[in-house]
Amino acid sequence: MEQKRIAAIVGSFRKNSYNRQLALAAKEIIGERAIFEIIDFADVPLMNQDFEHPAPEPVRRVREQIKAADGVWIFTPEYNHSYPGLLKNLIDWLSRPISKEERQVLSKKPIAISGASNGMGGTVTAQDLLVMLLSMLNARVMNFPRLRVPNVQEQANEQGLLVLTTSKPYLEKQADAFLKFIQE
Ligand code: FNR
Repeated sequence: MEQKRIAAIVGSFRKNSYNRQLALAAKEIIGERAIFEIIDFADVPLMNQDFEHPAPEPVRRVREQIKAADGVWIFTPEYNHSYPGLLKNLIDWLSRPISKEERQVLSKKPIAISGASNGMGGTVTAQDLLVMLLSMLNARVMNFPRLRVPNVQEQANEQGLLVLTTSKPYLEKQADAFLKFIQE
């Protein structure tokens, strides 16, 4: 059987982003069980309908990566009790039909959501709002389990490296569940 592909989207461009580190930890846990690729979308411009057709090259590239993926795993911080604007911007681009013949790439796409923040809620509100947005786009969101990492700095060492002292077993459970979910 051909190996499944997971495309990871990280909602932070920060160099030492905890969410990026969480995505890298997930990649390690997934190992050989799937191809796990973190999507680079820092060059996707702000949405502007004037430039939608033809879509800018970075948008076309990311669309192809999402289209080719069997599942998308989003790792998001929480900004002011919501998901960051850069994630909304990317999803706004992805929400648009590619052409008259081809619908948008998130429709029916299996999606897992995780998030780390330095607050007590560990991105719960951002995740709930993301579920609402993705449901509107007819994505197939895995509602359980969803991983929240609260007070993330307490699970990092002095160098800011995420060691996931308490959250690692939950990340492992989510990885196992998502691998099953994308087979269904
Ligand atoms: C935050 N942060 C934050 N944390 C939280 O738990 N709830 C929140 O509502 C917010 N709001 C917020 C707004 C803005 C504009 C910033 C920049 C930050 C803190 C946030 O959780 C923390 O900076 C994380 O480390 C960001 O994730 P990355 O960049 O480490 O992946």
